[in-house]
Amino acid sequence: MTTETDDPRPATPLTVLGIETSCDETAAAVVRRDADGKGRILANVVRSQLDLHAAYGGIVPEIAARAHVELLDPAIKHALDKAGLDIETIDGIAATAGPGLVGGLIVGVTLAKAMAMGHGVPFIAVNHLEAHALTAGLTDGLQFPYLLLLISGGHTQTLIVKDVGNYERLGTTLDDAVGEAFDKVAKLLGLGYPGGPKVEAAAARGHAAVTLPRPMLGRAEPHFSLAGLKTALRNAAQARSPLNDRAVADLCASFQEAVAEIVGDRAARAMELYGDRLGPDAQKALVVAGGVAANQRLKEALKGAARKHDFRLVVPPPELCTDNAAMIAWAGAERLARGLVDELTTPARARWPLDPGAPPALGAGVKA
Ligand code: KG4
Ligand code: ZN
Repeated sequence: MTTETDDPRPATPLTVLGIETSCDETAAAVVRRDADGKGRILANVVRSQLDLHAAYGGIVPEIAARAHVELLDPAIKHALDKAGLDIETIDGIAATAGPGLVGGLIVGVTLAKAMAMGHGVPFIAVNHLEAHALTAGLTDGLQFPYLLLLISGGHTQTLIVKDVGNYERLGTTLDDAVGEAFDKVAKLLGLGYPGGPKVEAAAARGHAAVTLPRPMLGRAEPHFSLAGLKTALRNAAQARSPLNDRAVADLCASFQEAVAEIVGDRAARAMELYGDRLGPDAQKALVVAGGVAANQRLKEALKGAARKHDFRLVVPPPELCTDNAAMIAWAGAERLARGLVDELTTPARARWPLDPGAPPALGAGVKA
């Protein structure tokens, strides 16, 4: 449970250690939040487990949890060494407590609690989605409110970020996340894992010549749907089998083009709703986060949509868009600065929506 202390910390610099173990990256980082609210990354260590999961074509939760146990201690030590700091100078310890793969979350949360207790500093349970949402404050000093488009392997959402802990979810996916769809298409075409970068590279050699559907395009409800597109791509691939390199490249280009149009359109709808909710005077900024934000074609589509709606587009650098611990440390520092700390009984949560009051989106496998 989060408690708001009676006495929020006075505006002093805060140095926070962040831990991320919700998926297949084992990460530790140290971030300083200055008294004026500006953030600085002192160390940002990410140990990818890609090689451990590649043979299976996706993430195996048990392997991930076991790898976190082995990799986390050295990652934390490395982060503190890089920052040139002793653990005694840390003001708080933040760990991702959800949403994510619960085995990995427990590894990070348990270690963070033990360290917090051992060193007598607060523990901060960070929502991974909140950390993505707040990153633009660290990288660009962006003030609230703003619109967030989160597109990763596990999440696809548009959210109004009003303040720390205050979010309104607009759209979500009715089935697959955007990154998940890229990964499944890559697997289907034999391109390997993770799929996004491989599909983008193959698309660069092809032409978007294959006709594919654009589910949800132009719809008033702000949600996403990718499953039908993925099925259409599978059918198109089967119809062209056996596939040569040229056919694979064309299928990738066609798929990427369809996703870019869908994402641009869904972001545009979210920008309209943002204006409806907050009025014409609210800051117009669209922040893109999540691994898929690395895709150049999608970025182009988002740039176009943002320009059309007079929004400023903010895309943090790729290493801070994908999963990392600097964003966890920063979210922890933002919470700590407001006196928002957590008890050592706080559990890890596989599901943890940022806006629990959001109306349910009806679909086959809606992800929080
Ligand atoms: O945010 P992230 O590192 O991890 C989580 O899923 O939380 O995102 C990884 C996802 C994967 O699905 C990966 O295929 C996708 O981001 N991705 C891309 C690209 N780079 C990474 N998708 C499309 N184009 C890319 N260039
Ligand atoms: Zn993420």
